[in-house]
Amino acid sequence: MMSTDRRSFLKLSGLAGLGILSNQVSASPSNQKSNVHHILKQVEQTYKPIFNMSGYAAPALSTVRTGFIGVGNRGSAAVYRLSLIDGVAIKGICDVRDEKAQAAKARIASDGHEATIYSGDEDVWKEMCRREDIDFIYVATHWAMHAEMAIYAMEQGKHVAVEIPAAVTVADCWRLVTTSERTKKHCVILENCCYDFFEMLTLNLARQGFFGEIVHCEGAYIHDILESLFKEEARYDKWRLLENAKRNGNLYPTHGLGPIAQVLKLNRGNKMEFLTSVSSKDFSLRPKLEELVKTNKDLEKYLKYPFRGNMNTSTIKNNDGSTIMLQHDVSTPRPYSRLHVISGTEAFAQKYPLPAKLAIGHEEFLDEVKFKEIESKNTPKIISYIGEMAQQVGGHGGMDFIMDWRLIDCLRNGLPVDMDVYDAASWSVIGPLSEWSVANGSKPIEVPDFTMGRWKDNLVHNIHLETGGTTKVLKTNKKQD
Ligand SMILES: NC(=O)c1ccc[n+]([C@@H]2O[C@H](COP(=O)([O-])OP(=O)(O)OC[C@H]3O[C@@H](n4cnc5c(N)ncnc54)[C@H](O)[C@@H]3O)[C@@H](O)[C@H]2O)c1
Repeated sequence: MMSTDRRSFLKLSGLAGLGILSNQVSASPSNQKSNVHHILKQVEQTYKPIFNMSGYAAPALSTVRTGFIGVGNRGSAAVYRLSLIDGVAIKGICDVRDEKAQAAKARIASDGHEATIYSGDEDVWKEMCRREDIDFIYVATHWAMHAEMAIYAMEQGKHVAVEIPAAVTVADCWRLVTTSERTKKHCVILENCCYDFFEMLTLNLARQGFFGEIVHCEGAYIHDILESLFKEEARYDKWRLLENAKRNGNLYPTHGLGPIAQVLKLNRGNKMEFLTSVSSKDFSLRPKLEELVKTNKDLEKYLKYPFRGNMNTSTIKNNDGSTIMLQHDVSTPRPYSRLHVISGTEAFAQKYPLPAKLAIGHEEFLDEVKFKEIESKNTPKIISYIGEMAQQVGGHGGMDFIMDWRLIDCLRNGLPVDMDVYDAASWSVIGPLSEWSVANGSKPIEVPDFTMGRWKDNLVHNIHLETGGTTKVLKTNKKQD
């Protein structure tokens, strides 16, 4: 008999489907915790480093010939933003829903693009990925398709950028890593919060030693979207309701984790060791469903699912001894928070509630004048260079455009990307690991080392403009919808 935690682990991690574990899966466990640890270690040992994508500079592309897959809420806004970046040629726009693909095409805000529409068929995105005149695929579909699409695109010789999370199983995180290494194609996670103004400031301050040694960081995604989860028109096929119905853990960890992972130099001199996770009960989702089902019989099919607890809190221990706290709650009525906390031996930073604050020592937070003084001295050049334009373009206050512009500029100048495949895998894997921990009484679980040992020597990456910065922003009269 296989133990429950082992069985749930294999299911949640997707590792059972990987084939490489058939012997171990049938073995009877003597110690449950060490068995899960054992499986993770064996998987890690199954993979051998092929090529280190950390710091890898791919050949420069003067024009980035781009195809988009999934142009609903998020992807169509990305079409608009990328059309404002010089050196981007939009070659293809794919959405299973033709009206979405057409609407996204109409948002192109500059001349010279010959965007072919791919729509109607669930698999038509593959046809676009096979085109030889496309270099780069931008994926903004629902979560379940991210890894499959990213892997296929890399196998067709394309760089890929994928919305968050990049994958929803441990197995798919490994697949992303090995495919990127084998093909030498970038797999970039589109974690826009890494480019928000205060997050960029704290990253720069951390690199200057302002915080001293980093003791502890916190991040969160707290956003009440309960109503919209049930709305037909909000998302394709209510995909996000299904995720929240079937899974219980931190389903959306990367907004909180991305910026602090960069501060903590994860995968570059430091790494996450293990995680433990706890979820509250579900106070909102099922009650809401039961209320709505009375007038909408189409929702009855969701009644069979267990539903995610409102608040998930996951804690992580890092190799350098520091800790992380991550939270996820998208169904409790409370103010929005993308908590961003850095606590060091010398100083402290916190965003949410707004305005963001800095403190030195245990007294009061610094006043506005002192804050502004530190901010003006330490805001990275990329913000002064592109920040004002980004705020005009819009998209989460400007961070979306900074992210897109920076990625295209790196591709055009042949520079390493800010968020590589190891970041994509290790930030996204918190989802399935937290699910396992929640399902098993908050037991600790190892965080896989997707760098396969190379984290020790990988160089720290900084987001700067010492190289690159040559990509222009195009003028347009067309406003973001
Ligand atoms: N970074 C952020 O701030 C942020 C914000 C919102 C959403 N997102 C992410 O963006 C992604 C999309 O979210 P959304 O709100 O735009 O969802 P959405 O449902 O509006 O968009 C997804 C699109 O994918 C299309 N699609 C589904 N299957 C397809 C297939 N087989 N081939 C081609 N197209 C297909 C759908 O028709 C839909 O238009 C998610 O991963 C989400 O997490 C990120």
